[in-house]
Amino acid sequence: ASTLGAAAAQSGRYFGTATNSSQLSNAAYATILNREFNSIVAENEMKWDATEPQQNVFNFGGGDRLVAHARANGMSVRGHTLVWHAQQPGWAQSLSGSALRNAMVNHINQVAGHFRGQIHSWDVVNEAFADGGSGGRRDSNLQRTGNDWIEVAFRTARAADPNARLCYNDYNTDGINAKSTGIYNMVRDFKNRGVPIDCVGFQSHLGTSIPGDYQANLQRFADLGVDVQITELDVAQGSNQASIYERVTRACLAVTRCTGITVWGIRDSDSWRRGENPLLFDGNGNKKPAYQSVLNALNSV
Ligand code: G3I
Repeated sequence: ASTLGAAAAQSGRYFGTATNSSQLSNAAYATILNREFNSIVAENEMKWDATEPQQNVFNFGGGDRLVAHARANGMSVRGHTLVWHAQQPGWAQSLSGSALRNAMVNHINQVAGHFRGQIHSWDVVNEAFADGGSGGRRDSNLQRTGNDWIEVAFRTARAADPNARLCYNDYNTDGINAKSTGIYNMVRDFKNRGVPIDCVGFQSHLGTSIPGDYQANLQRFADLGVDVQITELDVAQGSNQASIYERVTRACLAVTRCTGITVWGIRDSDSWRRGENPLLFDGNGNKKPAYQSVLNALNSV
Protein backbone atom coordinates (compact mmCIF):
# COMPACT_ATOMS: atom_id res chain seq x y z
CA ALA A 1 0.00 0.00 0.00
CA SER A 2 1.20 3.51 -0.73
CA THR A 3 -0.28 5.47 2.18
CA LEU A 4 -0.01 5.12 5.95
CA GLY A 5 -3.71 4.48 6.49
CA ALA A 6 -4.01 1.87 3.76
CA ALA A 7 -0.81 0.17 4.86
CA ALA A 8 -2.00 -0.04 8.47
CA ALA A 9 -5.39 -1.32 7.33
CA GLN A 10 -3.69 -4.37 5.80
CA SER A 11 -3.40 -5.73 9.35
CA GLY A 12 -6.71 -4.28 10.56
CA ARG A 13 -5.10 -1.30 12.25
CA TYR A 14 -5.60 2.42 11.84
CA PHE A 15 -3.03 5.15 11.31
CA GLY A 16 -4.13 8.52 12.63
CA THR A 17 -3.08 12.06 13.37
CA ALA A 18 -3.98 14.86 15.73
CA THR A 19 -5.65 17.74 13.95
CA ASN A 20 -7.52 21.00 14.48
CA SER A 21 -10.69 22.04 12.67
CA SER A 22 -9.00 25.32 11.66
CA GLN A 23 -6.47 23.33 9.62
CA LEU A 24 -9.07 21.58 7.46
CA SER A 25 -9.44 24.59 5.18
CA ASN A 26 -5.71 24.67 4.41
CA ALA A 27 -5.51 22.86 1.05
CA ALA A 28 -1.91 21.67 1.36
CA TYR A 29 -2.62 20.33 4.82
CA ALA A 30 -5.95 18.71 3.94
CA THR A 31 -4.43 16.97 0.93
CA ILE A 32 -2.00 15.10 3.17
CA LEU A 33 -4.57 14.48 5.89
CA ASN A 34 -7.11 12.95 3.54
CA ARG A 35 -4.56 10.95 1.56
CA GLU A 36 -2.55 9.40 4.39
CA PHE A 37 -4.70 9.02 7.49
CA ASN A 38 -7.77 6.94 8.33
CA SER A 39 -8.17 8.16 11.91
CA ILE A 40 -8.11 11.57 13.56
CA VAL A 41 -8.06 12.98 17.07
CA ALA A 42 -8.72 16.55 18.14
CA GLU A 43 -5.44 18.10 19.30
CA ASN A 44 -7.39 20.47 21.59
CA GLU A 45 -11.04 20.85 20.62
CA MET A 46 -12.57 18.04 22.68
CA LYS A 47 -10.80 19.02 25.92
CA TRP A 48 -12.69 20.33 28.95
CA ASP A 49 -11.76 24.00 28.44
CA ALA A 50 -12.90 23.86 24.81
CA THR A 51 -16.13 21.92 25.30
CA GLU A 52 -17.44 23.44 28.56
CA PRO A 53 -16.08 27.00 28.78
CA GLN A 54 -18.70 27.90 31.37
CA GLN A 55 -20.22 25.40 33.74
CA ASN A 56 -22.93 23.42 31.99
CA VAL A 57 -22.62 25.55 28.83
CA PHE A 58 -21.23 23.37 26.08
CA ASN A 59 -19.46 24.17 22.82
CA PHE A 60 -19.10 21.28 20.42
CA GLY A 61 -18.35 23.33 17.30
CA GLY A 62 -14.75 22.29 16.72
CA GLY A 63 -15.36 18.67 17.67
CA ASP A 64 -18.43 18.45 15.47
CA ARG A 65 -16.46 19.79 12.47
CA LEU A 66 -13.78 17.17 13.01
CA VAL A 67 -16.32 14.36 13.36
CA ALA A 68 -18.08 15.51 10.18
CA HIS A 69 -14.78 15.58 8.30
CA ALA A 70 -13.97 12.08 9.53
CA ARG A 71 -17.36 10.72 8.46
CA ALA A 72 -17.11 12.31 5.03
CA ASN A 73 -13.67 10.79 4.51
CA GLY A 74 -14.12 7.35 6.04
CA MET A 75 -11.93 8.03 9.06
CA SER A 76 -12.50 6.89 12.63
CA VAL A 77 -12.21 9.33 15.52
CA ARG A 78 -10.33 9.05 18.80
CA GLY A 79 -11.82 11.23 21.55
CA HIS A 80 -9.30 13.24 23.56
CA THR A 81 -9.92 13.76 26.43
CA LEU A 82 -12.81 13.64 28.92
CA VAL A 83 -10.91 14.34 32.15
CA TRP A 84 -7.44 15.76 32.67
CA HIS A 85 -5.79 17.93 35.31
CA ALA A 86 -4.62 20.34 32.57
CA GLN A 87 -6.65 22.47 30.16
CA GLN A 88 -9.53 22.66 32.59
CA PRO A 89 -11.72 25.74 32.27
CA GLY A 90 -11.13 28.31 34.99
CA TRP A 91 -14.42 27.55 36.72
CA ALA A 92 -13.44 23.87 37.13
CA GLN A 93 -9.96 24.76 38.38
CA SER A 94 -11.55 26.62 41.25
CA LEU A 95 -13.84 23.77 42.30
CA SER A 96 -13.05 21.02 44.77
CA GLY A 97 -14.66 18.14 46.62
CA SER A 98 -18.12 16.95 45.66
CA ALA A 99 -18.78 20.05 43.54
CA LEU A 100 -15.83 19.14 41.31
CA ARG A 101 -16.75 15.44 41.31
CA ASN A 102 -20.29 16.25 40.24
CA ALA A 103 -19.00 18.62 37.57
CA MET A 104 -16.71 15.89 36.25
CA VAL A 105 -19.57 13.39 36.02
CA ASN A 106 -21.81 15.93 34.29
CA HIS A 107 -19.01 16.80 31.86
CA ILE A 108 -18.51 13.16 30.90
CA ASN A 109 -22.24 12.57 30.53
CA GLN A 110 -22.69 15.61 28.31
CA VAL A 111 -19.59 15.25 26.13
CA ALA A 112 -19.56 11.48 25.70
CA GLY A 113 -23.34 11.67 25.28
CA HIS A 114 -23.09 14.32 22.58
CA PHE A 115 -20.58 12.28 20.55
CA ARG A 116 -22.22 8.93 21.38
CA GLY A 117 -21.75 6.42 18.58
CA GLN A 118 -19.16 8.50 16.71
CA ILE A 119 -16.03 7.86 18.76
CA HIS A 120 -13.86 4.77 18.21
CA SER A 121 -11.94 5.22 21.47
CA TRP A 122 -12.17 7.81 24.24
CA ASP A 123 -9.23 8.90 26.34
CA VAL A 124 -11.48 8.91 29.41
CA VAL A 125 -8.69 9.92 31.77
CA ASN A 126 -5.42 11.53 30.71
CA GLU A 127 -2.11 11.75 32.60
CA ALA A 128 -3.32 10.88 36.10
CA PHE A 129 -0.07 9.25 37.25
CA ALA A 130 2.97 11.01 38.69
CA ASP A 131 6.35 11.14 37.01
CA GLY A 132 9.35 9.80 38.90
CA GLY A 133 9.74 6.70 40.97
CA SER A 134 6.63 6.67 43.14
CA GLY A 135 4.37 4.79 40.75
CA GLY A 136 1.51 6.69 42.38
CA ARG A 137 -1.12 9.14 41.33
CA ARG A 138 -0.39 12.70 40.32
CA ASP A 139 -1.64 15.29 42.79
CA SER A 140 -4.45 17.32 41.23
CA ASN A 141 -7.81 18.81 42.10
CA LEU A 142 -9.43 15.66 40.68
CA GLN A 143 -7.23 13.31 42.71
CA ARG A 144 -8.14 15.27 45.85
CA THR A 145 -11.81 14.41 45.27
CA GLY A 146 -10.92 10.82 46.20
CA ASN A 147 -8.89 7.97 44.74
CA ASP A 148 -11.97 6.48 43.10
CA TRP A 149 -12.33 9.39 40.66
CA ILE A 150 -10.80 7.40 37.79
CA GLU A 151 -13.12 4.44 38.09
CA VAL A 152 -16.11 6.77 38.47
CA ALA A 153 -15.03 8.47 35.23
CA PHE A 154 -14.82 5.12 33.40
CA ARG A 155 -18.19 3.88 34.67
CA THR A 156 -19.81 7.19 33.72
CA ALA A 157 -18.27 7.10 30.23
CA ARG A 158 -19.41 3.53 29.64
CA ALA A 159 -23.00 4.46 30.40
CA ALA A 160 -22.83 7.61 28.27
CA ASP A 161 -21.40 5.88 25.16
CA PRO A 162 -21.58 2.09 25.46
CA ASN A 163 -19.94 1.49 22.06
CA ALA A 164 -16.78 3.56 22.50
CA ARG A 165 -13.58 1.84 23.56
CA LEU A 166 -12.59 3.43 26.89
CA CYS A 167 -8.87 4.19 27.30
CA TYR A 168 -6.50 5.43 29.97
CA ASN A 169 -3.79 7.60 28.30
CA ASP A 170 -0.39 8.77 29.59
CA TYR A 171 3.21 9.71 28.71
CA ASN A 172 6.62 8.60 29.98
CA THR A 173 5.21 5.09 29.87
CA ASP A 174 7.43 4.01 26.98
CA GLY A 175 9.12 1.18 28.84
CA ILE A 176 8.69 -0.83 32.01
CA ASN A 177 9.21 1.78 34.73
CA ALA A 178 7.62 2.88 37.98
CA LYS A 179 5.01 5.05 36.26
CA SER A 180 3.93 2.46 33.70
CA THR A 181 3.86 -0.17 36.43
CA GLY A 182 1.59 2.00 38.56
CA ILE A 183 -0.80 2.23 35.61
CA TYR A 184 -0.44 -1.49 34.95
CA ASN A 185 -1.48 -2.22 38.52
CA MET A 186 -4.52 0.05 38.18
CA VAL A 187 -5.60 -1.64 34.95
CA ARG A 188 -5.17 -5.09 36.48
CA ASP A 189 -7.25 -4.00 39.47
CA PHE A 190 -9.96 -2.56 37.18
CA LYS A 191 -10.11 -5.78 35.16
CA ASN A 192 -10.31 -7.84 38.36
CA ARG A 193 -13.15 -5.73 39.78
CA GLY A 194 -15.09 -5.25 36.54
CA VAL A 195 -14.43 -1.53 36.19
CA PRO A 196 -14.96 -0.87 32.46
CA ILE A 197 -11.65 -0.24 30.69
CA ASP A 198 -10.86 -1.38 27.15
CA CYS A 199 -7.55 0.16 26.19
CA VAL A 200 -4.41 1.93 27.30
CA GLY A 201 -2.89 4.75 25.27
CA PHE A 202 0.88 5.21 25.16
CA GLN A 203 1.49 8.78 24.06
CA SER A 204 5.09 8.09 22.98
CA HIS A 205 6.48 11.61 22.90
CA LEU A 206 10.01 10.35 22.32
CA GLY A 207 13.44 11.95 22.34
CA THR A 208 16.45 10.55 20.52
CA SER A 209 16.20 7.09 22.06
CA ILE A 210 13.59 4.46 22.84
CA PRO A 211 13.58 2.00 25.76
CA GLY A 212 14.62 -1.51 24.77
CA ASP A 213 11.51 -2.92 26.44
CA TYR A 214 9.02 -0.71 24.56
CA GLN A 215 7.33 -3.71 22.92
CA ALA A 216 7.46 -5.83 26.07
CA ASN A 217 5.70 -3.04 27.94
CA LEU A 218 2.88 -2.92 25.36
CA GLN A 219 2.62 -6.70 25.54
CA ARG A 220 2.28 -6.86 29.33
CA PHE A 221 -0.70 -4.51 29.16
CA ALA A 222 -2.24 -6.46 26.28
CA ASP A 223 -1.87 -9.60 28.39
CA LEU A 224 -4.19 -8.01 30.97
CA GLY A 225 -6.95 -8.15 28.35
CA VAL A 226 -6.98 -4.57 27.08
CA ASP A 227 -6.12 -3.13 23.68
CA VAL A 228 -3.10 -0.87 23.46
CA GLN A 229 -2.72 2.11 21.15
CA ILE A 230 0.13 4.47 20.32
CA THR A 231 -1.70 7.74 20.79
CA GLU A 232 0.51 10.84 20.39
CA LEU A 233 3.65 9.68 18.64
CA ASP A 234 6.38 12.20 17.84
CA VAL A 235 10.16 11.73 17.92
CA ALA A 236 12.85 14.39 18.22
CA GLN A 237 14.77 14.84 14.99
CA GLY A 238 18.19 13.26 15.24
CA SER A 239 20.26 10.84 13.23
CA ASN A 240 17.99 8.00 14.38
CA GLN A 241 14.54 9.57 14.00
CA ALA A 242 13.56 7.20 11.19
CA SER A 243 14.75 4.12 13.05
CA ILE A 244 12.89 5.08 16.23
CA TYR A 245 9.68 5.56 14.25
CA GLU A 246 10.30 2.16 12.70
CA ARG A 247 10.86 0.56 16.11
CA VAL A 248 7.57 1.94 17.41
CA THR A 249 5.69 0.78 14.33
CA ARG A 250 7.17 -2.71 14.43
CA ALA A 251 6.42 -2.97 18.15
CA CYS A 252 2.76 -2.20 17.53
CA LEU A 253 2.59 -4.66 14.65
CA ALA A 254 4.14 -7.37 16.83
CA VAL A 255 1.49 -6.97 19.54
CA THR A 256 -1.82 -8.44 18.37
CA ARG A 257 -3.84 -6.14 20.60
CA CYS A 258 -2.05 -2.98 19.43
CA THR A 259 -4.87 -1.65 17.29
CA GLY A 260 -3.45 1.58 15.88
CA ILE A 261 -0.94 4.38 15.84
CA THR A 262 -1.64 8.12 16.01
CA VAL A 263 1.02 10.75 15.32
CA TRP A 264 0.67 14.12 17.09
CA GLY A 265 0.43 16.24 13.95
CA ILE A 266 1.29 16.04 10.28
CA ARG A 267 4.03 18.53 9.37
CA ASP A 268 6.91 19.62 11.61
CA SER A 269 5.50 23.12 11.45
CA ASP A 270 2.20 21.88 12.93
CA SER A 271 3.84 20.34 15.98
CA TRP A 272 3.73 21.51 19.61
CA ARG A 273 7.46 20.53 19.51
CA ARG A 274 8.12 22.21 16.17
CA GLY A 275 11.66 23.22 17.19
CA GLU A 276 12.50 19.51 17.30
CA ASN A 277 11.03 18.68 13.85
CA PRO A 278 9.43 15.55 15.32
CA LEU A 279 6.88 14.54 12.67
CA LEU A 280 6.72 12.55 9.41
CA PHE A 281 6.38 15.50 6.99
CA ASP A 282 8.53 18.62 6.79
CA GLY A 283 7.07 22.10 6.87
CA ASN A 284 6.53 22.00 3.11
CA GLY A 285 4.58 18.76 3.32
CA ASN A 286 7.41 16.63 1.93
CA LYS A 287 7.74 13.07 3.19
CA LYS A 288 10.75 12.66 5.50
CA PRO A 289 12.89 9.49 5.84
CA ALA A 290 10.85 8.68 8.94
CA TYR A 291 7.72 8.54 6.78
CA GLN A 292 9.30 5.96 4.50
CA SER A 293 10.49 3.86 7.43
CA VAL A 294 6.98 3.76 8.92
CA LEU A 295 5.37 2.93 5.57
CA ASN A 296 7.90 0.15 4.89
CA ALA A 297 7.32 -1.33 8.33
CA LEU A 298 3.54 -1.27 7.90
CA ASN A 299 3.93 -2.96 4.52
CA SER A 300 6.20 -5.67 5.89
CA VAL A 301 3.43 -7.64 7.58
O1 G3I B 1 -6.93 28.69 22.01
C1 G3I B 1 -6.08 29.60 22.71
C2 G3I B 1 -6.15 30.96 22.11
O2 G3I B 1 -7.46 31.47 22.26
C3 G3I B 1 -5.13 31.85 22.81
O3 G3I B 1 -5.12 33.10 22.23
C4 G3I B 1 -3.75 31.23 22.73
C5 G3I B 1 -2.68 32.05 23.46
O4 G3I B 1 -1.79 31.21 24.15
O5 G3I B 1 -3.79 29.98 23.31
C6 G3I B 1 -4.68 29.08 22.67
O6 G3I B 1 -4.65 27.91 23.37
C7 G3I B 1 -3.53 27.09 23.16
C8 G3I B 1 -4.01 25.73 22.68
O7 G3I B 1 -2.92 24.84 22.58
C9 G3I B 1 -4.70 25.81 21.33
O8 G3I B 1 -3.81 26.26 20.37
C10 G3I B 1 -2.79 26.96 24.46
O9 G3I B 1 -2.21 28.19 24.82
C11 G3I B 1 -1.73 25.89 24.35
O10 G3I B 1 -1.19 25.65 25.65
C12 G3I B 1 -2.33 24.62 23.84
O11 G3I B 1 -1.30 23.67 23.73
C13 G3I B 1 -1.73 22.32 23.61
C14 G3I B 1 -1.31 21.53 24.86
O12 G3I B 1 -1.68 20.18 24.67
C15 G3I B 1 -2.00 22.05 26.11
O13 G3I B 1 -1.58 21.36 27.24
C16 G3I B 1 -1.06 21.75 22.38
O14 G3I B 1 -1.59 22.37 21.21
C17 G3I B 1 -1.33 20.23 22.31
O15 G3I B 1 -0.53 19.67 21.28
C18 G3I B 1 -0.96 19.57 23.62
O16 G3I B 1 -1.31 18.20 23.53
C19 G3I B 1 -0.99 17.40 24.67
C20 G3I B 1 -2.05 16.34 24.78
O17 G3I B 1 -3.33 16.93 24.86
C21 G3I B 1 -1.81 15.45 26.00
N1 G3I B 1 -0.49 14.87 25.98
C22 G3I B 1 0.61 15.85 25.81
C23 G3I B 1 0.38 16.70 24.56
C24 G3I B 1 1.53 17.67 24.36
O18 G3I B 1 1.62 18.60 25.39
